Amino acid sequence: MACSVSRARWRSRSISTIPYELFPEKVAVVGHRPQASGLPGSPQCPMNPHRQAVQDFLRETEEFNRRAESAGLGDLSPYLWYHTVELPPDLVTPGLFDFRASLPFFHFPQDMRGLNVLDVGSATGFFAFELEKRGAKVVCVELPSLEALDRFPGQSVEQTAEKIKGMVALESTGAFGQRIRSYTPGELYHYLLEAPFELCRKLLHSKVERHFSTVYELSPSLFGIPAFDWVFMGDILLHTLNPLGALASAASLCRGVLVLSQDMPEAPDGQPAMHYVGGEDPVEDQVSWWLPNKTCLVQLLKKLGFHDVFEAGHHRGVQRPFGYVYNRTVLHARK
Ligand SMILES: C[S@@+](CC[C@H](N)C(=O)[O-])C[C@H]1O[C@@H](n2cnc3c(N)ncnc32)[C@H](O)[C@@H]1O
Repeated sequence: MACSVSRARWRSRSISTIPYELFPEKVAVVGHRPQASGLPGSPQCPMNPHRQAVQDFLRETEEFNRRAESAGLGDLSPYLWYHTVELPPDLVTPGLFDFRASLPFFHFPQDMRGLNVLDVGSATGFFAFELEKRGAKVVCVELPSLEALDRFPGQSVEQTAEKIKGMVALESTGAFGQRIRSYTPGELYHYLLEAPFELCRKLLHSKVERHFSTVYELSPSLFGIPAFDWVFMGDILLHTLNPLGALASAASLCRGVLVLSQDMPEAPDGQPAMHYVGGEDPVEDQVSWWLPNKTCLVQLLKKLGFHDVFEAGHHRGVQRPFGYVYNRTVLHARK
């Protein structure tokens, strides 16, 4: 099957040729904290930035697992943390994405008491838990299984799983990567999208409600309320084959502000366009398909009934374990 081909290709692939990552965006190889001098990615750093980023990540993951075990949480080493989340007693999950410092760029209100919020595609749940901390009543949605993730026509869920594994578990990640590469699609779903969220919810004593659905099937009857005051869509459209259908589905449940955060190229000629980013090789993609430019997203949102659409913020960060720099633009769309 193509899966073994896929694995071999992921192994031999040069990082700098990766067009798009798992769950996002343009990549460049740099180290863990690009701004700090002397750290990977800076001229002063003597180490290969990719290697340094991986080493930092693996050290932090090991330390987290050791501390979690001492705190009585058992063996968390099979977990794959999409988000960095601060947990009691004094734990910080080793996330692939740490949005803590970027939160101001999303411009969520500090006080969200009395607001209903929907977080679509919540992964570990960093945003859902953060908005709950601000007082909102939060409902989030996640896929019911890896099967339900959009995949290119003719491809299998096993191929999708191999692509996702390849994005975090190259051979340079040692035993951590080896474990992830051994996961079945069901195990990958569990350790990436199910168990980490549930553990956070428990330790945070959170009341965030989680529903299982694709973005296309969202409806008031799923949630028991007609619409939400705020809807958050972070890095999800890129993984949909039908981004307009996905956006329209979430938009129909928003009666206030829809926050859309993702890589969003500017349109140099001012023309709305949707770039295809899946490439031509059946196994060489990042489960990412369409990247609309900012003009395109603004126009789509206006056409979907949001009268006021504006760029609320922009930020950069570093995706782990490999230390790729990513860019995010945050749009706010008001009805
Ligand atoms: C890249 S992660 C983003 C996580 C989080 N929203 C953020 O901004 O950090 C994409 C999330 O969307 C979910 N997802 C992808 N395609 C989806 C679909 N068609 N329907 C619902 N959820 C989807 C994935 O399972 C994953 O949790």
